[in-house]
Amino acid sequence: MSEAIIASWRENAGKVYLPEELDAREPLVREILELKKQKNAIILGHNYMTPDVYYGISDFVGDSLALARHSLDAEADIILFNGVHFMAETAKILNPRRKVLIADLKAGCSLADSMTGEDVRALRKQYPGVPIVSYINCTADVKTEVDVICTSANAVKIVESLPSDTVLVVPDGYLAGNIQKHTQKKIIPWPGKCMVHELYTEFDVAMARKSFPNAKIIAHPECKDTVTAKVDFTGSTSQMGKYIRESKSQEVLLMTECSMGDNLRAEFPEVAFISSCQTCPHMKKITLEKVRDALKFEQFEITLSDDTIRRARASLDRMLAV
Ligand code: 13P
Ligand code: SF4
Repeated sequence: MSEAIIASWRENAGKVYLPEELDAREPLVREILELKKQKNAIILGHNYMTPDVYYGISDFVGDSLALARHSLDAEADIILFNGVHFMAETAKILNPRRKVLIADLKAGCSLADSMTGEDVRALRKQYPGVPIVSYINCTADVKTEVDVICTSANAVKIVESLPSDTVLVVPDGYLAGNIQKHTQKKIIPWPGKCMVHELYTEFDVAMARKSFPNAKIIAHPECKDTVTAKVDFTGSTSQMGKYIRESKSQEVLLMTECSMGDNLRAEFPEVAFISSCQTCPHMKKITLEKVRDALKFEQFEITLSDDTIRRARASLDRMLAV
């Protein structure tokens, strides 16, 4: 069984790494597979994991929404979340009886760092009665204070589901701008930004169109709305793959994190991917060595108080019910 996993890991990761690089990493992959069995652990992996971490060792990969749904009914003793801290926290909130680990506690997120629970309380006072939607890229503390959570895959739907003509959308100001384009409701944003997607400009899109006139340009909704206005498709990391499959794109330029393109390259060998990526330093903190150590030493555990879990769960449950 393990041999089949190793062979498929080599095949997929081999689209990006040299055979010598695979040889150097393979013992770690074998060790991780063995530790998973010993500890009854599962690994959930975000689409931005590097291909060596994304393939082979992950039991489930996806965007934030799919990963949140998957963590809900995971039955293993340990859930190791290969992604960033707010994602592992979300898994703990949704499945508190499991031991939830992240391989590096410093794998943060500029959006989650841009707002505190105190900031949300101040907004409530400033805009009494206005519902507050938070992007899932926020701390557990923020999740306890807001009305409902959204992800890049369901943001417009969540906003539309609220019985109010005005909605506060935090903490991503650009996501808020992108939602505004698809709703009649008045969106009040918070000025948080993704340090990766904010780097894309309208000029980049114009240059890409000129240099690669046949390429489909795909952006994440964490990009500025002036950027997404000019691309062919905007969507969550998983929706990007779906769009490529359904539109039968031959040439693609992704305005998102680098590993997304690397992983899609393995999935769509017939598609030409034009490099235009930006690196998320937080996602890149998750390496095979740290994943091995996380399982071996059962580190680093996500712990939250019962009260935080209860209150943060309410805003996540409202999202999952829509
Ligand atoms: P997705 O939910 O689209 O996977 O996005 C998460 C993220 O952090 C993108 O920067
Ligand atoms: Fe956060 Fe941006 Fe990194 Fe996603 S890509 S984890 S939003 S900093």
